[in-house]
Amino acid sequence: GGDVDSKDVVRNVVLVPIATIGCGKTTIALALVKLFGWGHFQNDNVKTKKGRGQVFADTISSLLVTNPVVFADRNNHQKRERDQLINDISKTMPNVRFVAIHYVHDRANFEPIRAATRARVLSRGDNHQTIQAGSKDQGEIIEIMEGFMHRFQPVDTSDAPDDHFDLVIDIDPTIESRENLEVVIEKLHSTYPGLFRDREMPTPSDLDAAVQWAMEYQPDFKMD
Ligand code: GTP
Repeated sequence: GGDVDSKDVVRNVVLVPIATIGCGKTTIALALVKLFGWGHFQNDNVKTKKGRGQVFADTISSLLVTNPVVFADRNNHQKRERDQLINDISKTMPNVRFVAIHYVHDRANFEPIRAATRARVLSRGDNHQTIQAGSKDQGEIIEIMEGFMHRFQPVDTSDAPDDHFDLVIDIDPTIESRENLEVVIEKLHSTYPGLFRDREMPTPSDLDAAVQWAMEYQPDFKMD
C-alpha cells in the first residue's frame, strides 16, 4: 500500500525474516512481543499437513486485525515462500507493508554462519518444536541445516517477489541477537515512527531483559 507516507504508518506491518535454522528469528520475535506487545506466529504451530502456507499467511492476516505489527516466523529463505506469503496476505489485506528481516548469508561467510547457528541449535537440546537436538542425531540436524543454507536465496529488491518489500533490514546471523534486535528496532523507528508513537523507546537494559526473557522461553507445543 504505497499511498500513505512511511512516516504516517501506524499499523499493517508484517516482519518477514529471511533466514536459516538457528539464526535467532524466534528470539528476536519474542523480544519484540515482550517490548511492544506485537503479534507473532510460528510456522511450527500450523497443525495441518495440507495448505500449510495458506494457513500461515491467513493467520498472519488475522493477527493484523488486533496487532499493528506481526512477525511471520518461518525461514522464508526461498523466493517462492516470500512470493506466497506476500501474495496470500495481500489478497485479504491490501495495504500491508512488508519488511524483510534479512539475515545476510554471503557465501564467503558460510563457515562463520555454520559455526554460530550450529552452536545455538546443538546447545538448545529439546527446547524446540520441530528440531529436538537432544533426541536427534547431530549429523542429521546438521544435514537439515545445510539444506537450508544451500537453498538460501538472498533478498534481491530489483525483481519480484522481493521488490514488494517496503524496507529491508540487513542483520548478521553470526552476532548476538541483542545486537540484531537493536538494529531492527532502530530501523523500524526511523522508517515508521508512527509505530512507536505515544510510547517511550526501550532503554538498553530493557533490550537486555527482553532478549534474556526470549532465550529462556519454553515452547508449549511440540511436533511428533
Ligand atoms: P529455528 O526455529 O530452529 O529455525 O531457529 P531460530 O532462527 O528461530 O532461532 P532461535 O531464536 O530459536 O535461536 C536458536 C537458539 O539459540 C535458541 O536456543 C536461542 O535461545 C539461542 N540464541 C538466540 N540468540 C542467541 C544469542 O544471541 N546468544 C546465545 N548465546 N544464544 C542465542
